[in-house]
Amino acid sequence: TRIWVPCDSAALAVGADEVAAAIAAEAARRGLDIRVLRNGTRGLLWLETLVEVEMPAGRTGFGPVDAADVPALFDAGWSREHPLALGLVEEIPYLARQQRLTFARCGITEPHSLADYLAHGGYRGLRNALALAPADIVATVTASGLRGRGGAAFPTGIKWNTVLKAPGTEKYIVCNADEGDSGTFADRIIMESDPFVLIEGMTIAGIAVGAARGYIYVRSEYPHAIARLEGAIALARHHGYLGANLLGAGPAFDLEVRKGAGAYICGEETALLESVEGKRGIVRAKPPLPALAGLFGKPTVINNVLSLATVPVILDKGAAYYQDYGMGRSRGTLPVQLAGNIRHGGLIELAFGVTLREILYGYGGGSASGRPIKAVQVGGPLGAYLPESQWDTPLDYEAFASLWAVLGHGGIVVHDDRADMAKLARYAMEFCAIESCGKCTPCRIGSTRGVEVIDKIRAGTGTPQAQVQHVVLLRDLCDTMLGGSLCAMGGMTPYPVLSALNHFPQDFGQAGIEQH
Ligand code: NAI
Ligand code: SF4
Repeated sequence: TRIWVPCDSAALAVGADEVAAAIAAEAARRGLDIRVLRNGTRGLLWLETLVEVEMPAGRTGFGPVDAADVPALFDAGWSREHPLALGLVEEIPYLARQQRLTFARCGITEPHSLADYLAHGGYRGLRNALALAPADIVATVTASGLRGRGGAAFPTGIKWNTVLKAPGTEKYIVCNADEGDSGTFADRIIMESDPFVLIEGMTIAGIAVGAARGYIYVRSEYPHAIARLEGAIALARHHGYLGANLLGAGPAFDLEVRKGAGAYICGEETALLESVEGKRGIVRAKPPLPALAGLFGKPTVINNVLSLATVPVILDKGAAYYQDYGMGRSRGTLPVQLAGNIRHGGLIELAFGVTLREILYGYGGGSASGRPIKAVQVGGPLGAYLPESQWDTPLDYEAFASLWAVLGHGGIVVHDDRADMAKLARYAMEFCAIESCGKCTPCRIGSTRGVEVIDKIRAGTGTPQAQVQHVVLLRDLCDTMLGGSLCAMGGMTPYPVLSALNHFPQDFGQAGIEQH
């Protein structure tokens, strides 16, 4: 019998290694023929450690399992009657109701096994791509409607086309794996649970635009992802999926992992390029776009992990298959990451168009505290806070833009009715002050002044007129940051601040209400 115990860092953090060891030891003690395999995560994080047991009907889940539960699970014969039994994993509604395209293999395969990857449809996309002309690969990605999943939603095929058409023979593929947004973990899950899909996506990008080298820039806080990727790259190279002649006949493409050093701004594409080049992560002015003058000044495709990891399914199943999911101009699926004060946090890959309310209650099961949900922040620390009146908006880039909000990288952080929105607005300004690269004044100085003025509002001291002036000043400051910042760091910090002020003015005192 095979038993799978996840090995991704969310499971490791709650003792998955101990669970795996306990299962192996207990099986040996009882003289049972059991193979413990290490899969990636299904993304049902509140159920970790989610143990899966091979049974005639399929893989049956038990969770959350602690090492101490293991003897009793054996005593019960891993029966479906055990209180931790979850039934067939594929039938757990949270998972069954998803559309897993990018994350199709996550939690099913062993992430360190190339054979397992191949057995589950891996590298079919690359084989198809190798039979196409570069311009046709780019055209397929364009036709799929895929837009950059890092947050800005720029059409991936159009970006690739700029690089393909750019003059020169030295070009690069750079993967942005500096996943720094609060409450996001989708990139990490791909890298830890299905690393070959990212490698395959980057390889396809390489042959599409004529780049022979790629870099994956991973944040240092992701040591397991880095180790997993390095192992997978070595294995892919050993088997001819990377290297001088792809699969014996194709062009050359090879990859390297570069480790970040903890700066949020290095997730901004030009600061990231500086960092890969070995310099301090400071934002470059655009233009020139990285597509024309990127890494080492050469034409560069720089995409988020999710964008690149979605390319293999598009090249495998075709542009129309992917395009068929979604709504409006948001095609395909969005991997939502549900976190914060929520009962069932985890990864939910769904076609665009689902509402926030369905995510929060239909999947998330409401707040973890059992208290009413007050606000949700979508799109990371620079995303807007959405009040309940906006939760029926479909997840769609344009629908969110019309609310003056962003989907960003798909991170959703939930707060219950105890949240002090003025304190959260202060946090956004403070975050910007700490993480600013310092290149431009509205962000570098504005964020510090922003913290000060919010402190004055929260203290509630001074005359009512002075309080009103503080709120007016805060709005003015946000306006300057929005219009005058060089990059999204300073340019988007006003989103959480102003959305908090606009939707929850009561948290900013009488002046907040008056200046609404
Ligand atoms: P942007 O809109 O300036 O650019 C988007 C991408 O399209 C860039 O790669 C840019 O180089 C490229 N591009 C634009 N015009 C092009 C053209 N004509 N040809 C080829 N390429 C072109 O947005 P930016 O500043 O890169 O990203 C901001 C976004 O990042 C925000 O919306 C935010 O949601 C997101 N973000 C994501 C984080 C994460 O952890 N994933 C963290 C913080 C912000
Ligand atoms: Fe640097 Fe902030 Fe200006 Fe971006 S907005 S370039 S992080 S100072």
